[in-house]
Amino acid sequence: MARKFFVGGNWKCNGTAEEVKKIVNTLNEAQVPSQEVVEVVVSPPYVFLPLVKSILRPDFYVAAQNCWVKKGGAFTGEVSAEMLVNLDIPWVILGHSERRALLNETNEFVGDKVAYALAQGLKVIACVGETLEQRESGSTMDVVAAQTKAIADRVSNWSNVVIAYEPVWAIGTGKVASPAQAQEVHDELRKWLAKNVSADVAATTRIIYGGSVNGGNCKELGGQADVDGFLVGGASLKPEFIDIIKAAE
Ligand code: G3H
Repeated sequence: MARKFFVGGNWKCNGTAEEVKKIVNTLNEAQVPSQEVVEVVVSPPYVFLPLVKSILRPDFYVAAQNCWVKKGGAFTGEVSAEMLVNLDIPWVILGHSERRALLNETNEFVGDKVAYALAQGLKVIACVGETLEQRESGSTMDVVAAQTKAIADRVSNWSNVVIAYEPVWAIGTGKVASPAQAQEVHDELRKWLAKNVSADVAATTRIIYGGSVNGGNCKELGGQADVDGFLVGGASLKPEFIDIIKAAE
């Protein structure tokens, strides 16, 4: 089965209601390849989810940027997977490196979140990736494999999982991984899935790249055999996100 190209826009902690409406209007007017060719998901901050969902074109989908690890309750400041389901938000990003680093989210905690979100019916964009120090010490694959294993240990059905490989050194730095560097890790990750999960999961799970993707570099990156799309940060707030979606063609 062919893997459908996936383009996610992670708006991170940015925007006002007015700015969000402006971005959505730009997306709504864009001519992009059809849903059969590319799946497009945008991820505004929590507070803008209902607004974006209500005005976004129906062929694009919405993702939250996080959710709580278990059922809601006395967890001040958290948003539960059940709440996202209740609002008809289909996707959630989990394990972003900014949360792993700044909020000390461990591999196990991220694995628990992925399993819980999937069990509630959400689709998950699960982020993995190494720091510069880890890459320079030659441990990229060990790091990415350990992050993926914590998910694999807790998840049996991978049909609603997209893996986002996001080298930390390439996030927001303008220092994009070369197409060969991205392809190498995606290929290794797919081999890891084949060996440790199943050949079917390896063949069907989309592995997308994130880290300084822009309108200029997306075509070559997206042309790599094992790069099934992107998770875009900064450029997803700009009209060039449309060019990135078009890289699916
Ligand atoms: O989730 C998206 C990534 O963190 C990439 O961000 O495109 O601004 O480098 P960036």
